[in-house]
Amino acid sequence: MAQFNLNVNGASKQVDVDSDTPLLWVLRDSLNLVGTKYGCGIAQCGACTVHVDGKAMRACSLPVSSLEGKKITTIEGLSEDGTHPVQKAWVEHDVPQCGYCQAGQIMTASALLADYPKPTDDQINQAMNGNICRCGTYNRIHAAVKTASKLS
Ligand code: FES
Ligand code: FES
Repeated sequence: MAQFNLNVNGASKQVDVDSDTPLLWVLRDSLNLVGTKYGCGIAQCGACTVHVDGKAMRACSLPVSSLEGKKITTIEGLSEDGTHPVQKAWVEHDVPQCGYCQAGQIMTASALLADYPKPTDDQINQAMNGNICRCGTYNRIHAAVKTASKLS
């Protein structure tokens, strides 16, 4: 075990874990930020997507030892009150079905819009392609990203 200082959602957090512990488990088990979900554990499904220095990254495959000095944002920190344009668009389109994949979808979409405020259909498809939704909400996700690009 070792101590790591992390910046999570704008706050400084100290955790005592093994150095190869994936960020996903630090968030969920050490910091009680359970909005970030476990799907596959091998960087394939996107359920665990968070932002690291503004980029969409898979928390299941990031060892905590690689994250000191980086800015980590989870779904809980995307906005204070659920009013990020992506969150508003998600509500407008009633995107979620079971909801399990949705935090990851929203974190991927918000990182895309930070880089490309007016993404093309291809850019949306490319960015969202790796986020699996077993409920098949893909059409609503695509429409919500388009709406969010107009709100931001
Ligand atoms: S749980 Fe991380 S990509 Fe599936
Ligand atoms: S809403 Fe159920 S897995 Fe995506």
